[in-house]
Amino acid sequence: MRSSVIAALLTLATPVVVVAWGGLGHRTVGYLAEKHLTDEAKSLFDTLLANDQGFDYSDAAVWADAIKQRMPWTRPLHFINPVNDNPPKKCDVVWPTDCPDEGCVVSATFNYTSILLNTDSDLEDRKNATMFVMHLIGDIHQPLHASGWERGGNDFKPICWKHSPPSGDDHCTGSINLHEIWDKHILHKLRGLPISLDKSREKAAAAQWADDLFGRQQAAAIYASSECTRLNNEKCILQWTTASNKLVCSNVLKRGLKWMAENDLSEEYFDDNWEVVDDQIGKAGLRLGAWMNAIAAATSGRNRDL
Ligand SMILES: *[C@@H]1O[C@H](CO)[C@@H](O)[C@H](O)[C@H]1NC(C)=O
Ligand SMILES: *[C@@H]1O[C@H](CO)[C@@H](O)[C@H](O)[C@H]1NC(C)=O
Repeated sequence: MRSSVIAALLTLATPVVVVAWGGLGHRTVGYLAEKHLTDEAKSLFDTLLANDQGFDYSDAAVWADAIKQRMPWTRPLHFINPVNDNPPKKCDVVWPTDCPDEGCVVSATFNYTSILLNTDSDLEDRKNATMFVMHLIGDIHQPLHASGWERGGNDFKPICWKHSPPSGDDHCTGSINLHEIWDKHILHKLRGLPISLDKSREKAAAAQWADDLFGRQQAAAIYASSECTRLNNEKCILQWTTASNKLVCSNVLKRGLKWMAENDLSEEYFDDNWEVVDDQIGKAGLRLGAWMNAIAAATSGRNRDL
């Protein structure tokens, strides 16, 4: 069985397209979750993700973006577009009406969790399900993945962003949009990184951010064991999604659209929002770890044949 996992992972050695929380954010969530795993969960997921390609938890967390082109039906699974919210005045997620038949980030997280809980599922299905869950719990925590406003901010452009320091990239006249600012630009500036990073620098930067976040969580006695882990319904997933959606009203659009269109968002807007991003990445990694621990505990003793 293990050789089929390795064969499937061989196809992943191609360069990863950077979208959604960007590689840095998703990789940090993957590494942080790994730090929160119980021994039992670590052993289960090490086995499900086993390969000889140097493919680690951070690579698993970006996989769902890399396969979007090959599996286009998975695209709508990365977000939810609440129909009735009207930020910044009104932010709300209505379940289940806000999730269309083709699926959304809430139903998909639940769906792939169910596949993982079924130890009769095909091993490759469980491996893919692991990688989806690792990615989608990250996406839920990006506020603009929990909002349909301007297609999650993709249509709010151009944005002025002068990333100073360290590289002085000037995108003030470019075509970047607000979604990208929240996927990537705030994160790179917050970590003192240039916008473009090769894969090995991105992984190293993510590992360091995960170390920082884990250290701060331990110091504040924030443990995975106190997180919401109802695996058999959408309750926890919806709670996280609703909180993320509310951030669009309280933070993402707080300054108003006119102000945002006229200012370099790498200045005051960055100062307003970097702590929100740091906090959301921390919560995503913690909750993903808790979720994986709960899956391992719920299937305990039934994973023997892996
Ligand atoms: C659930 O997962 C299966 C297997 O990948 C997929 O065929 C189905 O479309 C998924 N449904 C949703 C709502 O994500
Ligand atoms: C798992 O993902 C790979 C892409 O990496 C895809 O080719 C394969 O069909 C998927 N397997 C299942 C069972 O969905």
